[in-house]
Amino acid sequence: MVTLRKITLENRREMFGLEVAEDQRRFVASNLSSVASCYVLAVNGGSPLPFVIYADEQIVGFVMIVYGITGYELPRIAEKNYCILRLMIGAQYQNKGYGREALERILEYIRTFPAGPAQYCWISYEADNLVAKKLYESFGFRDNGEIAENEPITVLKL
Ligand SMILES: CC(C)(COP(=O)(O)OP(=O)(O)OC[C@H]1O[C@@H](n2cnc3c(N)ncnc32)[C@H](O)[C@@H]1OP(=O)(O)O)[C@@H](O)C(=O)NCCC(=O)NCCS
Repeated sequence: MVTLRKITLENRREMFGLEVAEDQRRFVASNLSSVASCYVLAVNGGSPLPFVIYADEQIVGFVMIVYGITGYELPRIAEKNYCILRLMIGAQYQNKGYGREALERILEYIRTFPAGPAQYCWISYEADNLVAKKLYESFGFRDNGEIAENEPITVLKL
């Protein structure tokens, strides 16, 4: 069973050590860089919600959700909505169903509106990231026609 757990002193090193495959590196920042971004957002009034993804007791991935981010080159949908800014499953754990189950947990969590009310969840992705695009579409995400930093924006009504 896949669960989302907070970053702790015990799990952080293993989470930082997780990597995607080399040809996927352009799709997602390293977990170390993402956690640094969480800090910068948090001290500038943002609401980063980072989690370690577990499959039973095994650490398999990382997700960073943000609410209503401001201050970047952002799509209009960003205001007062949730964004799955980073999602990764370690290369050795991919294609086993963990990404799909993690996305179920992530959306369940977002639908509790932990950082504030919202109508939408949005994700930006590289247009040729077909595995991610197909995964998101299977949950009902649809491109809204916006492009941010050369990436299409896909949106789900919460
Ligand atoms: C996208 C990602 C999180 C999916 O995680 P995952 O654990 O591999 O996904 P799952 O095993 O749950 O599979 C989800 C679907 O993708 C398909 N899939 C997964 N890896 C695949 C691959 N290498 N090639 C083709 N299809 C693949 C699965 O068959 C499954 O399809 P189905 O549900 O229709 O049968 C993972 O591939 C990843 O970390 N990629 C690199 C980082 C990234 O692109 N993040 C998203 C940024 S927007």
